[in-house]
Amino acid sequence: MSESPSHDVDRFARLTELLAEWQPLWRPMPFQHRRLPWAQAYPELAESLRALDDDECLRLQADPFTDCPLAEWLPVAELAALVELPELAAEGPDLPAQWAEQVGGRKWQQIEAFVPRMAAQPGTSLLEWCAGKGHLARTLSRHLDREVAGLEWQAALCHDGQALAERQGTQVRLAQQDVLAPGAARWLTADTQVAALHACGDLHGRLIELAAEQGSAVTLAPCCYHRTARTHYHPFSQCGRELAAAHGFSLSREDLAMAVQETVTAPRHVRRHRERANVWRLGFDALQRQVRGLDAYLPVPSLAYGRMPDSFEEFCRWAAERKGLVLPADVDWHAFEQEGQRRQAEVTRLELVRHLFRRPLEVWLVLDRQRRLEAAGFRVELGTFCDRELTPRNLMLRASR
Ligand SMILES: C[S@@+](CC[C@H](N)C(=O)[O-])C[C@H]1O[C@@H](n2cnc3c(N)ncnc32)[C@H](O)[C@@H]1O
Repeated sequence: MSESPSHDVDRFARLTELLAEWQPLWRPMPFQHRRLPWAQAYPELAESLRALDDDECLRLQADPFTDCPLAEWLPVAELAALVELPELAAEGPDLPAQWAEQVGGRKWQQIEAFVPRMAAQPGTSLLEWCAGKGHLARTLSRHLDREVAGLEWQAALCHDGQALAERQGTQVRLAQQDVLAPGAARWLTADTQVAALHACGDLHGRLIELAAEQGSAVTLAPCCYHRTARTHYHPFSQCGRELAAAHGFSLSREDLAMAVQETVTAPRHVRRHRERANVWRLGFDALQRQVRGLDAYLPVPSLAYGRMPDSFEEFCRWAAERKGLVLPADVDWHAFEQEGQRRQAEVTRLELVRHLFRRPLEVWLVLDRQRRLEAAGFRVELGTFCDRELTPRNLMLRASR
């Protein structure tokens, strides 16, 4: 069970205070700064991070709160306590393994964890929000032996998902619907129960607002808080707006992205690819600072997986062209690549400060959503629905009026 609302109100207020107080440390991205703005005020903190070995660094990335050397300077224990949330209770037997057919392994495990926590009430109409191919809708329908509707924007996903549902004889109806369009409101009534697994920023934001208006029950695992049309975060709840204003706490879209920047579940080859890309980007950063004679970060567009050039030199030539930079003929490519490697090791260590505030920020964002629904008369439980190893986006809001 979730804790009492008053406890969560304290949690929300205290998290606001801590996030606001420590903004100067968690906001700057070490990637962009050769000298971090806070390093002068906390030289020993920066030094102790730089001195970490690779294993210790990896351990702290995965679990920033345990035996954390930053505790000497930062409120590690209090942050750890504030992000501690109960696992929401599940009901019913395990789902049959054959239902996983056509669903990716990890996605299936998430669905397996989500469905028994849906607490479907008799007589309600069930709806999956941003359903993709409706894997969750299909599973819910089989599990409860009930009709489930699913809303999905992409026609091809609706088509394929509908075919899949029919082949498996499930009572699922996928409708092509842009959930941000005015017409989406008609799907929600006081008798609707909505399931949303990993609906991104504005998509779940819209669900929260419509549910608050209509009184629909919601089981939501939010995701990608930064996928939003607004450049700055506008708290959902009055309480969130007041706390943020009182503590001078405002969040840009970039700050929101920090809440989901975790790689714990990325496959090893993806992590290796990302690491090499970062080394090259940092190597190029050193080069561009020298070429421009300006000690300032220059953002370079990202490259889709598989589009990365084969060598550091090619990457730099590509990046220079994108930024309209003329490179000299005698660049010491090896030296700049090495500098990229050195910076990568340093950045990874300094990033541990941000790691420490990542989950607190995410919990703060979810508490804000919880407050919004509570203010609309909902009873809301907040907790986890699966282990973080399965998905770091493992928070769930279970709300009904
Ligand atoms: C992150 S996926 C989640 C899908 C599924 N719930 C899952 O967990 O695998 C988000 C889905 O939302 C859909 N989507 C994006 N924008 C949408 C919109 N405006 N209206 C409806 N669906 C949308 C995407 O096409 C995609 O299928």
